[in-house]
Amino acid sequence: MTFRATILTLFPEMFPGPLGLSLSGDALARGLWSCEARNIRDHGLGKHRAVDDTPAGGGAGMVLRADVLAAGIDEAAAPGDFRPRLLMSPRGKPLTQARVRELAAGPGAIIVCGRFEGVDERVILARKLEEVSIGDYVLSGGEIAALTLLDACIRLLPGVMGKEASGQDESFENGLLEYPHYTRPREFEGRAIPDVLLSGDHAKIAEWRRAEAERITRERRPDLLRIRS
Ligand code: ADE
Repeated sequence: MTFRATILTLFPEMFPGPLGLSLSGDALARGLWSCEARNIRDHGLGKHRAVDDTPAGGGAGMVLRADVLAAGIDEAAAPGDFRPRLLMSPRGKPLTQARVRELAAGPGAIIVCGRFEGVDERVILARKLEEVSIGDYVLSGGEIAALTLLDACIRLLPGVMGKEASGQDESFENGLLEYPHYTRPREFEGRAIPDVLLSGDHAKIAEWRRAEAERITRERRPDLLRIRS
């Protein structure tokens, strides 16, 4: 089954962008996912195809019109299309690996990329858009956030990653950050590979990695430990 990504944006040229390369690019070429970027401006009004207007109540910036965006969504989603409808926004619920896993297990997503100061609240409600944030910082638009979300989903699609990397050990999948990695040379600028990793004792190695993952998580992300316990 193909994971279908439909993106509504004022900059369709940004897609697939970096997702056309490497792991996700190979997966795209193999038909494991599809990427359709649609221009919101196709539904713009008047000679200038206006998509935005000044905010009711005054203030800085421009707001994406509800009628224009609704027309774009309605054309992108045929009746019976039950893909989640996401709106990338710093106001959204923070994206988590758990939500990424859910999305990757589904039919795909319709992703609206905001620009300007915001999107008319009424279209968010009327078209049941789920606002998603990729972190507590502000980007100039939702496109890079959408690419981030898609990248996180695509690598989990069946057949995209080799099974050697299929993800049980990696950061967040077990609630911990990843343990440190090493490879040759055995010594680098006076730093040696920890002896235990060269011991061949797999139980001890697993125990060491677990302890290191916990130490690093405690130091960097104590909030993750609280969620687990
Ligand atoms: N658009 C602008 N900033 C964003 C963020 N942090 N997450 C998602 N979409 C955004």
